Amino acid sequence: LIRNIKAREILDSRGNPTVEVDVITANGFGRASVPSGASTGTHEALELRDGNSERYNGKGVLKAVENVSRISEILVGYDCRMQREIDMTMIEMDGTDNKAVLGANAVLGVSMAVAKAAANESKLPLYRYLGGANTFTLPVPTLNVLNGGKHAGNDLAIQEFMIQPVGAETFAEAMQMGAETYHALGKYLNESYGASSTNVGYEGGYAPKMEKTTEALDALMIAIDRAGYSDEEIKIGLDAAASEFFDGENYKVDGEAMSSEELTAYYIDLVNSYPILSIEDPFYEDSFDDFENLTSELWETIIVGDDLFVTNPERIAKGISTNAASGLLLKVNQIGSLSEAIDAATLATRNGLSLFVSHRSAETEDTTISDLAVALGADMIKTGAPARGERTAKYNQLLRIEEELGDAGEYIRL
Ligand code: PGA
Ligand code: ZN
Repeated sequence: LIRNIKAREILDSRGNPTVEVDVITANGFGRASVPSGASTGTHEALELRDGNSERYNGKGVLKAVENVSRISEILVGYDCRMQREIDMTMIEMDGTDNKAVLGANAVLGVSMAVAKAAANESKLPLYRYLGGANTFTLPVPTLNVLNGGKHAGNDLAIQEFMIQPVGAETFAEAMQMGAETYHALGKYLNESYGASSTNVGYEGGYAPKMEKTTEALDALMIAIDRAGYSDEEIKIGLDAAASEFFDGENYKVDGEAMSSEELTAYYIDLVNSYPILSIEDPFYEDSFDDFENLTSELWETIIVGDDLFVTNPERIAKGISTNAASGLLLKVNQIGSLSEAIDAATLATRNGLSLFVSHRSAETEDTTISDLAVALGADMIKTGAPARGERTAKYNQLLRIEEELGDAGEYIRL
C-alpha cells in the first residue's frame, strides 16, 4: 500500500529543472524522474513549468512538485500494483485531454515511480513486472551519432543520423559495434573537419559544421567501413523532425526550399543510395497524407511517427486507418502516463507497426525506458549516442538486463 508520494525539483541534462518522484509503500520504494524535449510536438501532453522568470528563466517545476502532493493525498492507501487504476485516477483528477491541470510531468513522475515501487514490492525486476513471465527480447539500439536540427549548432536540417547494428548476435555486441563506429566517426571528423567538429549535441552525437544531408551520410558510411562493418551489419536511421524546418508551405533542406513532393523524391533518392532502414517524422506533424504516400512508396523502409503520433492512441488509430506510417516512436512523456503509453504500444504492434521506445533530448539518469523496451518487446530503443551519462545509463541498464536473462534472452531480429 502506498504510504507517501514525494516530489522534488532536480536537474536534467540540459541544466533545466525537472520532476523526480519517490513512492514509499509498506514494503517497497520507487523513484523516477521525467525527461523533456526540444523539438516537441504541438500535440504532446502539457509539461507544466512555473513561468516565474526569477527562477531558472521561468523553467522551474515547483507547481508540478506541489501537484504531486495533491496526487499523494488521493493515492495514499492504494495498492501500488494497481497501475491502471492509479493512472486513471490521476487522469480523472486532472480532467483535461492533455494533463494541463496537474502537468504531464507530475502525472508521469508518479506513474513511473508507482511501477518501480510495485516491482520492488513484488521482488521482480521492472522489465519482468511490466512485461510478465515470458519477457525475453532485447531491442536493437538506434544510436544517434551525428546531430543536426534543433539539437546542434550546425546547418543540417535533419535532426538525427543514427546507426543500427542489426547484424549483432547480442545486445552487448550491438553496443560494441555502435561504440566502435562512433569512435571511427569521431576520428574521421577530426581529420577532415578539425577538432571542433567532434563537439557533441544534446544527445551525444557529434555536431560537425555540415550543411548537406549526404555529407553526414557519407561520413557515417566511412565510419562504418573503417570500424570494420558492412552495410548489412549496420543500418542507418534518420529522424528528420521535419516540423522544425517546415515554414507552413515548404521544407528547407540543404539550403533549398522543397515542396512535399520534392521532399518525397529526395527521401526516395536517399534510400536508394544509402542503407537506410528507418525515417522518422519525414514531414511536419499533421501531414498524414504525405506520410501515407511515402510509406507506400518506401514499403521496405520503416516510416516512424513521432510528432505525428505523440504516443497518443487516438492519433495512432488515425495513422493506422490511413496507413500513414509503419512505425511508432514511443515517448512516455508525450502522453504522460505509463498505462496510456502501454496502450499506445499495444495498439501499434497489434496493427503491425514497428515499435521504437525513445528518450528525449533532455534526460536524467532514470532508466525506466530500458525496462519498458524489454517489457514491450520493442524492435528498437532510441536513446542517443553511446556517450554522455544520461544516454549510457539506458544502454547500460539493457546490458544488465541481457546478462540477467542469460541464455533465455534474445536480441531482436528485424
Ligand atoms: P526531442 O527530440 O526530445 O527534442 O523532442 C527527440 C526526437 O525528435 O525524437
Ligand atoms: Zn523525433
